[in-house]
Amino acid sequence: MKSDHTTFHSPLVDRQARARQNGHASAIIWLTGLSGAGKSTLACALEQALHASGHRSYVLDGDNVRQGLCGDLGFSRQDRQENIRRIGEVARLMMDAGLIVITAFISPTELTGIAFAPAWRKANSSKSIAGAKSKPASSAIPKGCTNWPWPDKIQEFTGISSPYEPPQQPELTLDTSRRDITSCTQALLSLLHARKLLIR
Ligand code: ADX
Repeated sequence: MKSDHTTFHSPLVDRQARARQNGHASAIIWLTGLSGAGKSTLACALEQALHASGHRSYVLDGDNVRQGLCGDLGFSRQDRQENIRRIGEVARLMMDAGLIVITAFISPTELTGIAFAPAWRKANSSKSIAGAKSKPASSAIPKGCTNWPWPDKIQEFTGISSPYEPPQQPELTLDTSRRDITSCTQALLSLLHARKLLIR
């Protein structure tokens, strides 16, 4: 429970100052999509391209974050909301620290739990969101899970026994069952260029 006895302390070095030093603005690129859609692959490819062109970036990935920061959370609706709330907060801190943050979480529902961005999944001027589509979930075995039972045997599996609500106004939708990783990465880079986020 949040304490009533805390006061926000304003930093002397802010996001704009860091952007000037880095030579580029910071941002959050929020990828959403079913398990196995290719969010992590795309996030890593984008990060690699950004890194190679001199941009400071970082990937927050669901499977990785659930090993530590969110290791106490499962896949109930409540736990997923808490998962996304924490990641939203971490992503915001990283954005304040000057990074281009790429998140790869299923993030299956509208993210009402994030206090600083009530309309988080709706595109607006400071954030980008990309939907990564997948082939039908019932025919997809999640990556790295070849020893798992079929998804329809896993409780609360997104897209089968747990809901997935596509974002209503994604800034970009990538059908990863039809486009390869290079093409998807280029599409994201073009979006970031169009938003004047990149310096080269
Ligand atoms: S989210 O719904 O809370 O956003 P998150 O992206 O962190 O999910 O984690 C999804 C990953 O957890 C999947 O890529 C998959 O490897 C694994 N996973 C394990 N159980 C489930 C489940 N019941 N539903 C979806 N993904 C699961």
